[in-house]
Amino acid sequence: MPAAARSTKPEESILFTPLSIGSLTVGGRVFKTATAETRATDDGFVSDEFIEFYEPMARAGTPLIITGNLYVIETGKSTYRQPGADNEDKIPGLKRLADALHAHGTAVFGQLNHCGRQVLPKTMGLDRAVSASGVRELMLGTLPRPMTEAEIAETVEAFGRSAAICKAAGFDGVQIHAGHGYLISQFLTPYTNRRTDAWGGTFVKRLRLLLEVYQSVRRHAGADYPVIMKLNGTDFLPGRPGLKNRDLVEVARIMEREGLDGLEVTVGHYESGGPMIRGTFSEFFKGMNKEGLGHKLPWLQRTGAKYAWPAMALAFGALWPPKEGFNLEYAENFKKALSIPVICVGGFQSREAMEQAILSGRCDAVSVARSMIADPYLVRHLMQGVSGPACNFCNGCIARAGRMPVDCYEKEVRREKDAMMEAESA
Ligand SMILES: Cc1cc2nc3c(=O)[nH]c(=O)nc-3n(C[C@H](O)[C@H](O)[C@H](O)COP(=O)(O)O)c2cc1C
Repeated sequence: MPAAARSTKPEESILFTPLSIGSLTVGGRVFKTATAETRATDDGFVSDEFIEFYEPMARAGTPLIITGNLYVIETGKSTYRQPGADNEDKIPGLKRLADALHAHGTAVFGQLNHCGRQVLPKTMGLDRAVSASGVRELMLGTLPRPMTEAEIAETVEAFGRSAAICKAAGFDGVQIHAGHGYLISQFLTPYTNRRTDAWGGTFVKRLRLLLEVYQSVRRHAGADYPVIMKLNGTDFLPGRPGLKNRDLVEVARIMEREGLDGLEVTVGHYESGGPMIRGTFSEFFKGMNKEGLGHKLPWLQRTGAKYAWPAMALAFGALWPPKEGFNLEYAENFKKALSIPVICVGGFQSREAMEQAILSGRCDAVSVARSMIADPYLVRHLMQGVSGPACNFCNGCIARAGRMPVDCYEKEVRREKDAMMEAESA
């Protein structure tokens, strides 16, 4: 498809044109994607610190903010200070967040998730993690047990109830997390789903959990409530039977037929290595050892991260260097197959790259994690055509996720960010 014309005036950019996601219309096309905030209370309630993270992004005109993953059931919680949408008692806190963002005209979606095997079970007070099958997770070393039928039914119900909780809190929609190797992704992927019952063994049976979760969300939240999904463009599990792009496009096609309102395209499981968060990794292993969950890892992974981190950082940085729009090659194939909006996440930072992604017809909107952590005013800066603090993709933020409040931990960038925020509040 030929690229449409690009305006030279920032305020006339395609980035600030409306987009409809089901029954919701948002005023722009640069969204904040999910980043595990690590800012809720220990028991999963939204705190002031939580709202303070998002309020500046809303003030800067970000049209849609997707929360970090909210656990739908206590046993699906993955990290410390993760927020929950598991119980009605969470509604007032979630509502405080929704109200704070709505005050600036920003829409908010809750990302609904169950972590499955991607957890250090002891840190969450669990004896064993659960998954589709008992396949060890290589990054964390976690060996899960297969879920029982009763646990699957409880999980399906929990996703629906969480959607109703988000709706009652005034959220504008929800996002079902079906990517990144979390529980739904574990059921979809043949490598992690070795079941031979009604929940595995064929493509249709591996899809069943996602379908039932979606139907449960619809039952609880209603036919008109905006529901989107985050899905891998490819599993990226070399040497293991992961899903390829064509399989995942088929998953999305089926979900669109079911009534899904939008799709966000991402990549990889935890044990894929670094494709999900391409960057320099200069702060990743170092930060994980120093201030992240590194010391909680099992011996093998902990020792590797402790002694081999310089080599690992170099290898990861060489294999998966930073790149703007690094999931566009996958997003493009979803876009060709679907009519619902396709949102592409992955490395976006500059106005040029974002506009090009949309104008070339490869996606309808872009979503941003790290560049918005570094510069919460990114959307305003894009509109004004000026630059703010620029993420250098060191991955120090994700290295600390689950233990420290999500923020930029690169000294120079953080200094610039703090000065900018202070100047605004003065
Ligand atoms: C600190 C941090 C926390 C993250 N937490 C989540 C999460 O809760 N849910 C999710 O789907 N992705 C999460 N991600 C992945 C991002 O949503 C996104 O897919 C990835 O960072 C690539 O986007 P970027 O290049 O704009 O950072 C996280 C990323 C970072 C950096």
